[in-house]
Amino acid sequence: MDLPRHIAVIMDGNGRWAKKRFLPRMVGHRTGSENLKKLINDCDDIGLEHITFYAFSTENWKRSQEEVSNLMDLLREYLDDHIKNERDNNFRIDFIGDMSRLAPDIQTKMKYVRELYSTHRGIFVHIAINYGSRDEIRRAVCEITEEVKEGNLLPRDITEDTISSHLDTKAVPDPELLIRTSGEMRLSNFLMWQLAYSEFYFSDKLWPDFKIGDLLEAVKSYNSRDRRFGGRNEVK
Ligand code: IPE
Ligand code: IPE
Ligand code: MG
Repeated sequence: MDLPRHIAVIMDGNGRWAKKRFLPRMVGHRTGSENLKKLINDCDDIGLEHITFYAFSTENWKRSQEEVSNLMDLLREYLDDHIKNERDNNFRIDFIGDMSRLAPDIQTKMKYVRELYSTHRGIFVHIAINYGSRDEIRRAVCEITEEVKEGNLLPRDITEDTISSHLDTKAVPDPELLIRTSGEMRLSNFLMWQLAYSEFYFSDKLWPDFKIGDLLEAVKSYNSRDRRFGGRNEVK
């Protein structure tokens, strides 16, 4: 089986997982977070290079204040757990999205974890927090126009690579495969530039139930696709 270099995952369905069990939404988020930890280590074991998870979107602030503050507390716990158990984890970790709107203590923990895990050798995990593709492109446009204003760049020299190199994902190859759980078939503002030519896989499993075997099913489906990139794969 050919593994893609980079898989992107929209972790959706925590709320429905809890609702089915007559539990508070927060229990779904907590179980989802445990599932994330397990899946990351399983992905490291199979030798995947990069994986990006959508954890909190720029639109998720619209949820109730209670849910948002619970999610932020869960993020704190998640980061603390990574600090405490650093020795058991082989992966590297980074974050995409606009960190500046997060509480200062969360920003400090994120930077600390990124630094702490930077000497690891395993899979590179990217977690999208306060991430929105439109916001990411807006921030890139701001940076590029500043360079033009300062006279360091001519508008006619702006290429697709210029734009890619100003996105949060600049150091990472575009995902070959996108997985979304819980049966929803939309992007919800995730990596719109980077997913331009990716293969999409939608799973009906709710996020807390999505395991490594399910991810490998997605890879199997990916392997059976005919990727053309606008050209033609001639059969001789
Ligand atoms: C995904 O689960 C987690 C976040 C968006 C933070 P949801 O909370 O969206 O779960 P559903 O879609 O309501 O089931
Ligand atoms: C997308 O899920 C965002 C994350 C998984 C973090 P949502 O549940 O927020 O998306 P919509 O509202 O169903 O589009
Ligand atoms: Mg959802």
